[in-house]
Amino acid sequence: MDGQRFLGKKGERVSEPENRGLPSHVAVIMDGNGRWAKRCGLPRVEGHRRGAAAVDACTAEARRLGIRHLTLFAFSSENWHRPEDEVGALMKLFLTVLRTKRDRMAKNGIRLRIAGDRTRFSRELQDAILETEEATSHCSAMDLTVCANYGGRWDIVQAVRSALREEPLLARHPESVDEELLGRHLALPWAGNVDLMIRTGGESRISNFLLWQSAYAELYFTPELWPDFTGESLRRAVVWFQGRERRFGRTSEQVSERG
Ligand code: IPE
Ligand code: IPE
Ligand code: MG
Repeated sequence: MDGQRFLGKKGERVSEPENRGLPSHVAVIMDGNGRWAKRCGLPRVEGHRRGAAAVDACTAEARRLGIRHLTLFAFSSENWHRPEDEVGALMKLFLTVLRTKRDRMAKNGIRLRIAGDRTRFSRELQDAILETEEATSHCSAMDLTVCANYGGRWDIVQAVRSALREEPLLARHPESVDEELLGRHLALPWAGNVDLMIRTGGESRISNFLLWQSAYAELYFTPELWPDFTGESLRRAVVWFQGRERRFGRTSEQVSERG
């Protein structure tokens, strides 16, 4: 139906995704801020600022489409290796974004949580995270999880530690450790498995993002730089996802039989 279609960037039409078969959990590696800034002759931090604006557009569109869980990679465990001034600017931006977006998130029914090792953040940032989580804790329309100082390997290690802390006897009964148990101790247990993982910026790698949760994710790589990513870009990725056949180890025939 024409009224349900949108014009793509280069003139191609992007359909409105079907309501049926929406990915429940979409995770995004928001890459390309630095290259975007360089292309515009601006400092890298300006790319990060524009990247923060793209987060708003992507979140609003995910909410409109009815995606249940949106998880965004904002700062990896490895990003501490960047120049000190860039890390400082990112932390400052993170604090500003948390403080300025809190009310709008709550108004739109979006529950915002931060996943990652927050012990390395300043006290001020840790407090702002807690305040934002508290201010949106009653929201239930969509879960927005921002991964900051997050690494997939860190997540698995912290899950093992958390399980042992909760049940020290597990160490004497290793056979009782299973995927379900570890899954409960991951940093974002509410979101479950990733259905669609998007990476902007043209690289085809996972960079230590949700390693456990992405075991069967459909991987969508786009050359678009993160600050250029729009609601329409998200729709394009979701429509692409809806064209995939998810077999989970079965044959194509088995999948068709099951409907
Ligand atoms: C992603 O953009 C943002 C963070 C990793 C914090 P980059 O800053 O990695 O942008 P490029 O890859 O240098 O273009
Ligand atoms: C991945 O981007 C991390 C985030 C988007 C936050 P990077 O730009 O840090 O990834 P690599 O190091 O190039 O793989
Ligand atoms: Mg990068």
